[in-house]
Parts: sequence; structure tokens; C-alpha cells
Amino acid sequence: MRRPLVAGNWKMNKTTGDAVALTSGLITELAGFTGADALLCPPFTALAAVGETLRSQGSAIALGAQDLFIQDSGAFTGMVAPGMLTDLGCTYVIVGHSERRGRFGTIEDWMTPEVLALFGDSDATVNAKAKKALAAGMTPIICFGETIGERKAGQTDTVCEAQVRAALAGIDNATIGQLVLAYEPVWAIGTGETCDAPEANRVCGLARSVVASVAGQAAADGIRIQYGGSVKPDNAAELLGQEHIDGALVGGASLKVDSFAAIVRAAR
Ligand code: 13P
Repeated sequence: MRRPLVAGNWKMNKTTGDAVALTSGLITELAGFTGADALLCPPFTALAAVGETLRSQGSAIALGAQDLFIQDSGAFTGMVAPGMLTDLGCTYVIVGHSERRGRFGTIEDWMTPEVLALFGDSDATVNAKAKKALAAGMTPIICFGETIGERKAGQTDTVCEAQVRAALAGIDNATIGQLVLAYEPVWAIGTGETCDAPEANRVCGLARSVVASVAGQAAADGIRIQYGGSVKPDNAAELLGQEHIDGALVGGASLKVDSFAAIVRAAR
């Protein structure tokens, strides 16, 4: 049995005071709930305060970061190293989020090409970040998913398979079984347009079969695969009830105590 993992990706939201207030509210709201693992991924600037709040209240809610850099230290202005994250108590880190991947040359109607190429993480960068996270003792949450253009062109499966394969390259089979993947169709992120549950389950199942072919059946049975993209309290139970969906990666709805707690509870 895979234990569901419901993660809140706060993205570029919450100053320290707001982050502590949200964390305290969630600790109270989820006290005694044991049906799923919960994880908070605040911005770098709030990691210390959120971590301290969780620790001081003895909460089982985990702390994670939204990204990491692929070097341990050095002259990399503005970057954050793996060891800086573990130093603050992070046990998870998101890598390969679509808001950080670059799809050079692809122009989507919902987002400008400048934004799409802003950070430019390639498949190779995502793989390097996943390995760096593991080396530092954290569990990477590796995001993958197609754009609307790729979906309309019938490329969903090939894009997702390629991203998953590339992300796992060179990681040993037993470790792969402990990882977290997050299927986040780019067109469903922040749009209110959720991928319907059977289709989300189909793509997560496809990812699981890719894991089986790369790392064997035991790894495929162990790896947790989240769905992300406009998860809300009213669609969480159906999504989280699917065979291949082992949790959620939540953006907008993770910014309020009530909505995130309701989604965590839906994952029992
Ligand atoms: P939304 O839940 O706001 O669609 O964001 C999903 C996401 O990108 C989580 O990483």
C-alpha cells in the first residue's frame, strides 16, 4: 500500500508572518489526522520560519523546498544549495516544475514564450537536480507533464514518457521506488481546468509503467505519483481515489487552511 502524499506548493506567495499563520492553522486543523502524509513547500524565504513552527509544535507535517541548485556551494548568485535546504529541515524538494522548465521554441497561447523560457530547466537539469536532492538526503518530487499544444498534437504520452525516463536516468532501482513523481499537465496549472480523473489516472499509470520498464516492478509499485493542476476540495476525492494517483501537488488551494486541510483529508 502506498501512503498518499499531499503537498502544498506555495509558489511565490506568503511573507514570513503569513507563512507562519498558515502553518499554525494547518497544524491545528490536521492535528490527529493520520490518513495521509502532508507536506508544505513555502518559498525559500519562509522555510526557516515554517520549519521552526512545525518543529516547535511537534507536527508530523513535512517541510520541502520548491527547487534547488545543482552545486553544493560557490559563486552562483541567487541560487540555493541542497545542504542549505537540509540545514533548515527540508526532507523533500520539488524539481522540474513546469514553471521552471524551458520549452524553447514552443509558443503557447496562455503564456508568453518569455515566461516559458525564463528558467529553462532541461530534462538533463531535472535529472541532475533529482540526484543532488538524493545525495543531500531529500526526496525529490519530480514533475512532468505536457503543454496544451503537445496534448492537442497527440504527444501527451511521448512527452510524459520522455520526461520521466530522462528524470530517472542513472538512479538505482531501489532508490527510484522511494521517489515521488508529480503529473502536472501544464494546461491545468492555475487555470481552474482540471484534467479529468480517469485521464489523470491513465497518464499516472503510463508513468508507472515507464518506471517498471526502467527500474522494475518493485520500484513501480513503490513510487508515489501525485496529480497536480487545479486540485480543489471539490475534485480532490475523485482524483485521489484513482488507482495510480497517490496524492496531490496543490498550488492555489494550498494557500488557505480550510481548502488545503480538506484536500489532505480527501486523501485518506
Ligand atoms: P494549481 O493547484 O494552482 O493549479 O497549481 C498546481 C501546481 O502547479 C502545483 O505545483
